Parts: sequence; structure tokens; C-alpha cells
Amino acid sequence: MASPSQPTSQKKRILSGVKPTGKVHIGNYLGAMQGHVNLQDDRENYIFIADLHSLTTVKNKAELQELILDLAMDYLALGLDPNKAVFFRQSDVPEHAELTWVLSCLTPMPMLELAHAYKDAVAKGIKEINAGLFTYPVLMAVDILIYKPDIVPVGKDQKQHVEIARDLAGKFNRTFGEVFKLPTPYIPEEVAVVIGTDGQKMSKSYGNTIEIFASDKALKKQIMGIVTDSTPVESPKEPDTIYKLYSYFANDDEKANLLERYRAGGMGYGDAKKMLLEKVIDTFKPYREERERLKNDIAYVKDILKKGAEKARIVASETKKEVWDKTGLSI
Ligand code: ADP
Ligand code: TRP
Repeated sequence: MASPSQPTSQKKRILSGVKPTGKVHIGNYLGAMQGHVNLQDDRENYIFIADLHSLTTVKNKAELQELILDLAMDYLALGLDPNKAVFFRQSDVPEHAELTWVLSCLTPMPMLELAHAYKDAVAKGIKEINAGLFTYPVLMAVDILIYKPDIVPVGKDQKQHVEIARDLAGKFNRTFGEVFKLPTPYIPEEVAVVIGTDGQKMSKSYGNTIEIFASDKALKKQIMGIVTDSTPVESPKEPDTIYKLYSYFANDDEKANLLERYRAGGMGYGDAKKMLLEKVIDTFKPYREERERLKNDIAYVKDILKKGAEKARIVASETKKEVWDKTGLSI
């Protein structure tokens, strides 16, 4: 890849991050991680583990450490190539936290009151909402802006945060002079919202996930637990949850075949679930094997993150210098 510095004209720069908060599921994979991996060949790719963001909710040392390493292994197992992408951990690049203060001083409170991470927490009645959760979008804006990416691939639920990053970039540039590039979110439409086993958005917080790296037994339990309605399988009013999930991984012939079997009758939801289970196991088999291998080589995983952070810091410290110059922090 091109040497890490400000974006080159030949290669578009992609940046994205995932917060380590739990077991990776099909929604995370299709909505975020797969896109990151697929884009690595012809783009300059920056992918990071947003561990500072996890601190807004995780308050246990061993748990946080495990979440971080798990996510690193997940990404590598899913095909992220550290020779093609700069893969690092947010907390290894101190410029993220430093620039967050600077942008916080430009962020209007009402903008944060409208941000959905905070609004959702209020709606859920969470009593002890911390300031970190409230200012989450500022840190996320910095995560993005500091690398001056062309494109930010995210799931639909993160679009608002990328828009906040755009607003803050514009505000900084107008206030102090041009430093930041306005980022563009990239949301692949067909997988914008992956549904979960109960038909609503797949999310760890709804307990409706299908976890890519779960044991065979757990995976089976999740898939066999998909909620179906009382309509007979041969006359679904619209594609059901099993079919929709199957469609993410099946080719056109396989999809047509499942519909055909639905229509022909005699097929129960249990049979359809078994087909889906086989498909998921088949699709993720090589990744699951690689994940097992990585589990025995944690030192290698840590080393990748360390080297990634060294590369990321080259860019982050250049941007910090520009910000310090423009604001007057450098005298
Ligand atoms: P969760 O809702 O399970 O806690 P996160 O909020 O950690 O998931 O999301 C991590 C990434 O995966 C984000 O980029 C998000 O947009 C994407 N993502 C999560 N769930 C889905 C989904 N159901 N469909 C599409 N993308 C998703
Ligand atoms: N907020 C994102 C999530 O919950 C993770 C994230 C943090 C991120 N910083 C980012 C995503 C910067 C894209 C770009 O998934």
C-alpha cells in the first residue's frame, strides 16, 4: 500500500472502526466488517478497534481486554490483511483523545442531545448516562477526520454520526482554516439493516443475533430459535426471516430452490432453518478455522495491532500538528 501520509490522489482512503462490545454477529459482518475487508485491495484502508468507545459501557478490565483481542482475531480471521490495511487500536493512537477535546470545544450541546446513542440511552431510561456516552459522537468525528478519509463505510445506524463528523469538520474549517476533509458515509443498501432471529434489526442489545464464531451447538440454537409466524410455510405473505437470512449467503439458484420448496408444500420451518444453518456453517467454515488458529497465537495478534498503530500515528500526528498550528496551540 502507499506509505501512510495524507491521502494520495491514486488511491481512495477508506476508514472505519468497530466498537468491541460483544460477539460478532452476521449484522456486524454484512453491515460493516465484510465491506472493510473487501475494500482493502484497491483502497488505502484504515480499520481500527474503537476501544475508547467501549469504555462508555464496559467497566471491567478483564472483560475489556478480552473484547479487544476477540475483535482483533475476528477481523483477522475474516480476512483483514495487515499488509494491505492499517489495522490498529484507537487507544494506541493518543491523538484521537487529544483532538476530541479540541472538537468538543466547537460542538454545540443540542447537536449531542439529538445524537441517537444518547437519545436511545435516555429513551431506555438508563439512569447513569456518563459524559463519555454524551460526547461519543465527538470522539467518533475525530476518529474519522484525523485520517482525512474519502469514504467511511458504516451501517445505517451510524450515518448520523458521520453526518456529525461532516458538520464538525466544516465548523472547524470555517473557524480556524481548512484542515479537515468532509467525509462521505458509504452504506451498502442491500445489507443496510440485517434482520435478526426475531425479524427486527439484528443487534447484541436485542439478543437476536447469529454469531459467526459461536460453537456449532450455540449457532444451531440461535438459528433453530428463529421466530416464525403461524402462516404455513408454503404460503408466506412475504419472504420470511429464514428466507431473508438465507438470501444473504445463497446464490440466485439456491434462493429460487428454497422458494420452490416452500411453494411445493411439505416443508416445515424446521427444514428451512436446517438449510440456513448449513449455509451459515459452510460460508464461515474457513473463517472459523482461522479464528481457532489465531486463538493460539495472541502474541502475533498483539504485534499486528502495535505495528498498525505505528503507521496510523504517522497520519494522526500530522493532522494534530495542523490543528495545533491553526488553533494557536502551537506557539
Ligand atoms: P450491535 O447493534 O449488535 O451492538 P454495533 O452497534 O456494535 O452492533 O455495530 C457494529 C457495526 O456493525 C456498525 O458499523 C453497525 O452499523 C453494524 N451493524 C450492527 N448491526 C447491524 C445490522 N443489523 N445490520 C447492518 N449493520 C449492522
Ligand atoms: N460508533 C461505531 C459503532 O458503534 C464505531 C466507530 C467508532 C466508528 N468510531 C468510528 C465507525 C469511526 C466508523 C468510523 O459501530
